[in-house]
Amino acid sequence: MIQRGDYSDAPFTAMLYDLVPAYINRGDLDFYTGYARESSGPVLELGCGTGRVLIPIACEGIQITGLDLSEFMLTKCREKLEKEPPEIRQNAETVMGDMRTFDLNKSFGLTISPFRAFQHLITPDDQISCITCIYNHLQPGGKFILDIFNPDLKRIASLPSGKEIEDLPEVTIADGRKLRRAARVPKINRPEQYMDVELIYYVTSVNGQTERYVHAFNMRYLFRYEVEHLLARCGFRIVELFGNYDKSSLADNSPEMIFIAEKPGY
Ligand SMILES: C[S@@+](CC[C@H](N)C(=O)[O-])C[C@H]1O[C@@H](n2cnc3c(N)ncnc32)[C@H](O)[C@@H]1O
Repeated sequence: MIQRGDYSDAPFTAMLYDLVPAYINRGDLDFYTGYARESSGPVLELGCGTGRVLIPIACEGIQITGLDLSEFMLTKCREKLEKEPPEIRQNAETVMGDMRTFDLNKSFGLTISPFRAFQHLITPDDQISCITCIYNHLQPGGKFILDIFNPDLKRIASLPSGKEIEDLPEVTIADGRKLRRAARVPKINRPEQYMDVELIYYVTSVNGQTERYVHAFNMRYLFRYEVEHLLARCGFRIVELFGNYDKSSLADNSPEMIFIAEKPGY
């Protein structure tokens, strides 16, 4: 099972992730902490990254396990956890693993995969393998929140775009350096429904020297009923569907598709 461009081959992503305003101010924290509070048991986060969502859930006094494939992202997450008091730290554990094949010997009341981590899985086999693992780790009545972007057909039709497009304007980060981000989609694989994406970070030090970092990865786009079929095929029942973290209904211009799926109780 190959996966191009997980975060294991891009150590700079772990270094920059928490400095990018569009990542840290994503506006999904109340949504996820709310579902975590409502859940009946521990929470599992797949693709926990630097702990952006994991740590706020641990701060709520809720047990959470974070799984990620990238040792760089996990190291950053662990460093951040180390700075928390023991009563928060004791709520969180981190595990290096692949969301397609994990076996944690533990069951959860809620599984989440924030910020579209599931879209790094390209093939239906990988997706089914991941959703089956999730199902097997959930308690009866437990929930899985699947968060992906709402595909914009006009944009997909316009790809590929060889040109770098600056999508995050320059900001000054805590240590005085400047950071901006551009994006490029050099290839779209329409029959397989995925894009080759490059996120290009420019970091300018206080002495004016600029470094360029390219994070290249594949991103799958999925359509609503495709996801509904996938979830049903793996035994889930969809109980809610939102178009954004304010729980608004899915509409044509919604940025997200957020499926709340439930493992049936017996
Ligand atoms: C966009 S980041 C999201 C991080 C975090 N959930 C957040 O919301 O800030 C996606 C994360 O998924 C992880 N990831 C990608 N493919 C994975 C896989 N197959 N198994 C586990 N983690 C994976 C990456 O290493 C990365 O940390």
